[in-house]
Amino acid sequence: MRTGTTDTQTATARKLMGAWAIHRFDDFRRDHALLSLERLPLPPKVEPHDVLIRMHGAEVGDWDARVAAGEWPVDRSFPIILGLAGAGSIVDVGKSVVDLQKGDLVYTYNHPLSHRGCPSAHHNGAWAQYMLVPFDRVALAPTSLDLTHAGAVPIIGSTAHETIDDILQVFRHDIVLITAAAGGVGHLAVQIAARRGARVVALARRHNHEFLRGLGAAMTIDYTEADFVEVVRRAFPTGVDKALNGVAGETANGVVRVMKPVGHVVDLTGSATEKLPDGRVDTDYAVRPDRRRLAELARMFDGGDLQLEVSRVAPFADAPSALAEVLGKQVRGVVVLGIR
Ligand SMILES: NC(=O)c1ccc[n+]([C@@H]2O[C@H](COP(=O)([O-])OP(=O)(O)OC[C@H]3O[C@@H](n4cnc5c(N)ncnc54)[C@H](OP(=O)(O)O)[C@@H]3O)[C@@H](O)[C@H]2O)c1
Repeated sequence: MRTGTTDTQTATARKLMGAWAIHRFDDFRRDHALLSLERLPLPPKVEPHDVLIRMHGAEVGDWDARVAAGEWPVDRSFPIILGLAGAGSIVDVGKSVVDLQKGDLVYTYNHPLSHRGCPSAHHNGAWAQYMLVPFDRVALAPTSLDLTHAGAVPIIGSTAHETIDDILQVFRHDIVLITAAAGGVGHLAVQIAARRGARVVALARRHNHEFLRGLGAAMTIDYTEADFVEVVRRAFPTGVDKALNGVAGETANGVVRVMKPVGHVVDLTGSATEKLPDGRVDTDYAVRPDRRRLAELARMFDGGDLQLEVSRVAPFADAPSALAEVLGKQVRGVVVLGIR
């Protein structure tokens, strides 16, 4: 059940919030103590184009470990609050914001750690009780999802939607291969591609096959039981039209090898080294914050075109274990951080 925020004044008065932060860049896999749960000041000021959100849920992805490792450009000082996306209720809006108001239940993907397009150093991460975000990164959350669950959608949803619809332009009768199909991006991409009328071939371990067929996959392959390259080539001797790859390493090159010469691969991991003579292998895709896409995703969830698989709502205090679980690469759907 959704709840409005009642503790704004109290929190603002003490001007402190719970937040997961880092004080240096390092490898989270080696040192889980890199992340610390702290009482940190709320963002000091809501600028004219900002909204302040009382967070209820935050997305957890392997990208959070990359942020913690310092793999992306950062133009702010430590402590840095982790988390790039989530959902909550608006508790304050800047004076130039006209289409959002206090009490709106929203979700957002910002990239406050990059200097690209982030106007204020006060914008903070999503793994916190409050998140300050530019309004143009915010949309109304799907009403059909619990607000905590909605927090799991922005990055995986934007990625699946942009790659399948805009970049690969999947349409009727395309044969589309999706790896990491049971994961966050994958399980949404399978649904979007199947809705467009494509014949979806999904790579996943056997225990995920029924789940994926239920989402619209026409064919499922257990990559642990057989060489998927051989299986796909046998099934489609002339090759696959389009592919979305979410598995790093040799899988990425295997995907390229089963394509038609004019095929198109989006490799989310950027690890494919093989090329297609007359086709495309995109290795530089980076999901962009886009409120119109978030609004479209909300419409798709609310219209019954998409369903979200949440494997676990991790308590806020368990953020390191949630991130470790995600890095284990065996999650079906998503793990989301629940924030109170
Ligand atoms: N470039 C971008 O902007 C961008 C945006 C979003 C995500 N990404 C990247 O996309 C990738 C997928 O992310 P995600 O969060 O959706 O999922 P994920 O958590 O990386 O993947 C989880 C899924 O991967 C499957 N899996 C593990 N090993 C596999 C293998 N060898 N072959 C096929 N499936 C395998 C598992 O299913 P089984 O248990 O069935 O194997 C599990 O359900 C990540 O590398 C992520 O960083 C990039």
